Amino acid sequence: MRIGLPTHSERFGSNLFYSVQKVYELDAGPELDPEFSSPFHVVRQIPHAALHQIEQDMAIVIPVKNEKLRLLEGVLSGIPNACLPIVISNSQREPTDRFQMESLLLNNFCHSAKKKYLLFHQRDPVLASLFADNYQEILDETGLIRNGKAEGMIAATALAHALGKKYIGFIDSDNYFPGSVLEYVRLYATGFAQAQTDHTMVRIQWQSKPKIVDNELYFARLGRVTRITNQYLNQLLSLHSGFETDLLLTGNAGEHAMSMDLALKLSFASGFAVETNHFISLLEYFGGVLPSPFPDVMKQGVEVFQMQSRNPHFHDFSKGDDHLNEMIEASLAVIYHSQLCPKVLKKQIQEELKRLKILRAGQEPQAPRQYKPLLNLDVNKWRKTLDWSRYGNYQGL
Ligand code: GDP
Ligand code: CO
Repeated sequence: MRIGLPTHSERFGSNLFYSVQKVYELDAGPELDPEFSSPFHVVRQIPHAALHQIEQDMAIVIPVKNEKLRLLEGVLSGIPNACLPIVISNSQREPTDRFQMESLLLNNFCHSAKKKYLLFHQRDPVLASLFADNYQEILDETGLIRNGKAEGMIAATALAHALGKKYIGFIDSDNYFPGSVLEYVRLYATGFAQAQTDHTMVRIQWQSKPKIVDNELYFARLGRVTRITNQYLNQLLSLHSGFETDLLLTGNAGEHAMSMDLALKLSFASGFAVETNHFISLLEYFGGVLPSPFPDVMKQGVEVFQMQSRNPHFHDFSKGDDHLNEMIEASLAVIYHSQLCPKVLKKQIQEELKRLKILRAGQEPQAPRQYKPLLNLDVNKWRKTLDWSRYGNYQGL
C-alpha cells in the first residue's frame, strides 16, 4: 500500500484524530523503497509483509440478516486468507431456514478455498448463555441476544476477544464488490501499521457511493446522514476547542476497525447509533473533560485514522432509504445525550431535527440503549467451555 500521510490532525484530550489519507497505490510491491522513509516524502509505503502480519491477528466481523447468498459469498472472497471471518447472522429460521443455507454455503465455500471461518446465529441460546453472568443488558426478555446489528457486533467482538485476536474490523454482508471488501481490510491493516499506540481506530471514508440518477450513473460523495453526522461531530469538537474544524469525515462509518485493546474499552449503542457512539465514547473516556475510567490509556493516547477508499461503495439498495431519518435521529441523539454536548449544540440539533421534520418543536431525540465496555467479560472461561467446532472450522485455539 502507498498511502498519503495525513496532512493535519486534531487533538481532543488524549485522542489524536488524523485527517483523511488518500491511497496512491493499493499494492506497493514486496520491497520497501527507502525513498519513502524520508521525512520529506508525503507518501508512506507499507510493505505487504507488514500488512499480512496484522491480518493474521485480525478478525473480520460480518453481520448478516437475510442477505442474498451470492453477496455473502462475494464478501467472503474479498477477505484476505490470513484474517478470521466471524459471521454473525440474525437471518430467519422459518419458514425457510436461511441460516441453514448460509451455514451450508460457508461450509462448502470455505472448505474449497481452505479458508477458516466461524458462524454464529445471534439468537443461539448457547451464545446468549455466555453473556448471562456479566453482560445481561444484551439479553432480551426471552433470554436471547437482542435483535439488531449493533448487538451482533458486540457479541462477535467478544468472541474475537475470546480467540485472542488483536484487531477487529467490521464489513457489511450486502456489499456487491469483493474488491472493495479487500480494500477495506487492507486499509484497516494500513491504519494499524502506522499506529504509534496500542489504542487505535481506523475508519473508512468511501470515495463515492454510486447511484442511478436520471438513468445515468452518478457517483455521489457524501450521503445525507454522513453529512449531517459529520457536521455535528465537528461542531462538538469545535465548541470544546474554541477553534472551528472540519476534520472528521467518518462519523457514521459502518466500515471501521479497532485494536482489541480499544474495542474492549468503548461503550456501544444500539441500532444506527453504534458507529457515531464509538466516536462519542472516545471523546467521553479519553477527551480529558470527564474523568477517564482508563487513566493508563489517557497517558499513552489514542489514535484515529481516516482512510479514503478507492473503490466505490455499492451495497444493496433494494432495502430502500426509508430509514434515513431514523439514522439521522439515532446519530444525532448520541451527540445530544452525551454529557459533553453543550447547551448551544443541543439547541442546534433540536432545530435540525425539527427542520428535517423528524421531531416537533421542543421534542428531544430518543436516547439509544447504551452498552458498557466489554472489558470485564470472563472470556477465558468461554475459550475452554465453548465447543467451537460446532461453529465452523477454525483450528486456531
Ligand atoms: P445500511 O447499509 O446501513 O443501510 O444497513 P443494512 O440494512 O445494509 O445493514 C448493515 C449490515 O448489517 C448488513 O450486512 C445486514 O445484513 C446486517 N444486519 C442488519 N440487521 C442485523 C441484525 O439484527 N443482526 C445482524 N447480525 N446483522 C444485521
Ligand atoms: Co447496507
